[in-house]
This record gives sequence, structure tokens and C-alpha cells, in this order.
Amino acid sequence: MTDNSAKYVAAIDQGTTSSRCIVFDQNGAIVAVDQREHRQIFPKPGWVEHDATEIWSKVQAVVAGAIAKAGLRADQLSAMGITNQRETTLLWDRSTGKPVHNAIVWQDTRTAALCNQLGGSDGQDRFREQTGLPLATYFSGPKAAWLLDSVPDLRARAERGEIAFGTMDSWLIWNLTGGTDGGQHVTDVTNAGRTMLMNLETLQWDSSILSAMNIPEAMLPEIRSSSEVYGTAVGQLAGVPVASALGDQQAAVFGQACYDVGTAKNTYGTGSFLLLNTGDRPVASKSGLLTTMGYKIGTEAPVYCLEGAIAITGALVQWFRDQLGIIRTADEIEPLAASVEDNGGAYIVPAFSGLFAPYWRSDARGVITGLTRYVTKAHLARAVLEATSWQTREVVDAMYQDSGVHITTLKVDGGMTKNNLLMQHQADVLDVPVVRPKISETTCLGAAYAAGLATGVWNDLDELKAHWQKDVEWTPDMEASVRDREYHNWRKAVEKSFGWEE
Ligand code: G3P
Repeated sequence: MTDNSAKYVAAIDQGTTSSRCIVFDQNGAIVAVDQREHRQIFPKPGWVEHDATEIWSKVQAVVAGAIAKAGLRADQLSAMGITNQRETTLLWDRSTGKPVHNAIVWQDTRTAALCNQLGGSDGQDRFREQTGLPLATYFSGPKAAWLLDSVPDLRARAERGEIAFGTMDSWLIWNLTGGTDGGQHVTDVTNAGRTMLMNLETLQWDSSILSAMNIPEAMLPEIRSSSEVYGTAVGQLAGVPVASALGDQQAAVFGQACYDVGTAKNTYGTGSFLLLNTGDRPVASKSGLLTTMGYKIGTEAPVYCLEGAIAITGALVQWFRDQLGIIRTADEIEPLAASVEDNGGAYIVPAFSGLFAPYWRSDARGVITGLTRYVTKAHLARAVLEATSWQTREVVDAMYQDSGVHITTLKVDGGMTKNNLLMQHQADVLDVPVVRPKISETTCLGAAYAAGLATGVWNDLDELKAHWQKDVEWTPDMEASVRDREYHNWRKAVEKSFGWEE
């Protein structure tokens, strides 16, 4: 039963494969969850699209579902927060509210040639100083440029102010607050920072990059903080303040209470994203990491992070299940891997569309190395899981090189953290304890926290920090000589993934 005097905050997590809505109580405990998947559209090899209209209807359905399961009326919510898959790029017509094309998903590689061309003689680092990012197909700016060049008449319409650009946060906030009938066209610093169009110092669109990519400023949303009331919802949430927006990985930083400099979290989903709080100044990376926004609460100073973005971790388990058919469900991988003592000498580098951090190599392709007739499907299952922990190790090493910060405990969350074998291996190869909190839905929780801070449900970060409770801790238990040998072999396997024809 819900309590009439209690306060509730809901958050929408619009992710790569599904949308979910979670209602939280004032202690940060989950009251109800609803979730729906949407279609993945693959028009050509390397291309990945989403239907933004479908996403909006799934979002409306999960919001209705979560409120109903919570036994609440919408007007009992103190605030709604938004978190989302980052970089996925959408353009829509401001007068009809209809997308002009499917959204181009962050994993999509169609802009590889455009990124090369934009880099010119400066290469991948052309915009790194202003944006903290290397020129890679991952980010939104080149995706928007591709759309403007590919959809007939679109550039002229965009220049006349008829078209709106947004990542999923903007699309949802615009629709929630009225759409064609006065919807707010805004984004937050964490999402804007992943377009490659925002300047990390000014937190505004960078005119030199807009002109280099030929992006009309008229189509861009206003950049706001991550925690403030952007507008009031209409429709099913009528009257509820829409009060936060954070990219999903930054929301997890917030939900994991990584508020102090030097605290870090790793979220294991389709890919894995390790973010380290570096405080109120951006730290430039020389080791293949991204310099990115952490969050900005209202008028307070922004917080920056270093990020190790790994494209394929959980998606390798899906590939093992769906493309190879070795397991029937993702959960079967753990007992299969546990049926042998080690990887039997096999390593799998899942460079399915190049490698992200710390390499940023679009010429990398997946490889399996170390095969002998001794290797069984169980050894391969181990190699699948170990690929996640080794990729994370490489990112942690890069963090140390860039920041001098030794991560002493790694906070983890996301679907793969229920795999004990993997989490133990992660602690072993990092040689630090790995801890998972009681509320492991940290992405929605972070968005709810930011929305609740903006609306007076919670007062400050100390109050939120006090909610964090440890659920499980995995302690390192691997001999250094074994760890060093295995890491050496992993890196040899990574070398073999480079240099394939694009
Ligand atoms: O940068 C991409 C990331 O935000 C995607 O996260 O959890 O939707 O796969 P997820």
C-alpha cells in the first residue's frame, strides 16, 4: 500500500534496447517498475536505427504501467526525471512533431568516412580540446550532419528553424511538456556534451564546431543543468514537474553516489561505461579516455568525469547465445563457464564494430585467439566473460595514467553484475574489491535523485549518499603472476584485432 503523506519520484530510463519507468519512495527504494522493448532496425551492415515515435509510445506505456503498479495517481508524483541512451540522434519537424527520419543510434558506424574527412590533417583529435572527445562515429554531431546532407530539403528547413535536433532526453521532454503545443526544447549538459558540439568550458554550443560540421544553430535545444524544472508535464502526467535529465551513464554516477573526487562506477549493459569523478575541472585524457560531464545541479558548479566507454560487453553474451547458439539464455553462461577451471588458453576480443576506449580503432574486428583442440564451449564461455573484465582493466589502467587516481574500490551496477563468476574475475584482474549496492537500478535512481533535488524532495547530496548501502562485495583472489600472464595474453589478442579492411 502506498502512503498518502509520502513523497514519490519517478524516472524514465530510455535505453538502447528498452524503456523503463521506476517509481521511488523518499528513501530511494523502488516502489514499482515497468519496462518495454522497442525494435532495433538494421538497414545495412553497421547501421542501427530506432523509431522515435515507437519509443515515445513505449515510454507513455511504461509510465502508465509503473504508476498503476505503484497504486498511485500521477498527481501524487513530486517530480519526473529523465535518463537516456546517449548520442542517439533525432531530428523532428517542430510544427508536426514528427521525426524526419529514424533516430541514428550511438552504435551506428555510417559516419566513419565523414569523421575521417572532418579530422583532416588534425585527425581524431581535431575537436578534443573543446569537447573532450575523439572524432568517432559514436557521437551525435556527425550523425546530425549526415541527416542534413541525406534527407532532401532538410538543411534548408533546419536553417529556417523548422527542424529540431535532440538526443532522447530532448525528444521526451519536448513531448512530455506539450510537443507541438508549446513543448520545451532543452537538453542537459551531460547529453549535450556527447554531441561533440558543446564546449566543455562554456557549457554552450561551440560556434567553431557548428560551422566545421555545418550544423545550423537554429535546430539545437537550449543547454540546461541536469537538475532543474524544465517544464510541467501535460497529458497523463499533467501537472508533474519534469525536473532532471542525465545521460544514462552519468545518471548511474549520480545514483551510485559518486559525488567525491576519485569515486568511480562501472555499469555493465550492452557495453560497459566506467566513469571517474574528477571534480569541477575537466581532465584532458592522453590515454584514450573521454573527458565528459558528470552532472550539474541547478546553478552549482559542474562536475566532470573521465570515462572509459567499452562498446561490447553484455552484447558479447547475446552474440554467444543468438549467433552461435551455444547457450539458450544469457543466464546459462555462468554455469557453463564455471564447469571448467580456466579459459583453456582462449581469448575473445569483441571488436564487432571497432574498439572504443582506450583504442578508438575503427579498423579493429573481433578475434578469437589461442584455439587448440583442447578448447571446449565451456572455455569459450569463460573467454566471453573475461573479455568484459579485461576491457575494464584496460580502462582502469588508462584512468590511472590520466588522473593519477588509483581506484581502490569499484562500484558496479547493471545486468551483468548478477554473474558472480564475472564479478569475481573483475575483482581478481583489477586487484581491488568490487561492490554492488542494494539498489542496483542506479540509472533510474540517479535521474530520480536529480529530479527530487530540484523539487525539494531531498535537500542535498549528503542525504542521498546516506541511502547507498552495500549488497555484495567481491574480494580479489588471484596470484599476481597469473594475473600478469593473463593480461599479457589478452593484450596480444587485442593486437590481433587491429588492421582489418573497413
Ligand atoms: O553511450 C551509450 C550509452 O549511453 C548506452 O547505454 O545502457 O542504453 O546501452 P545503454
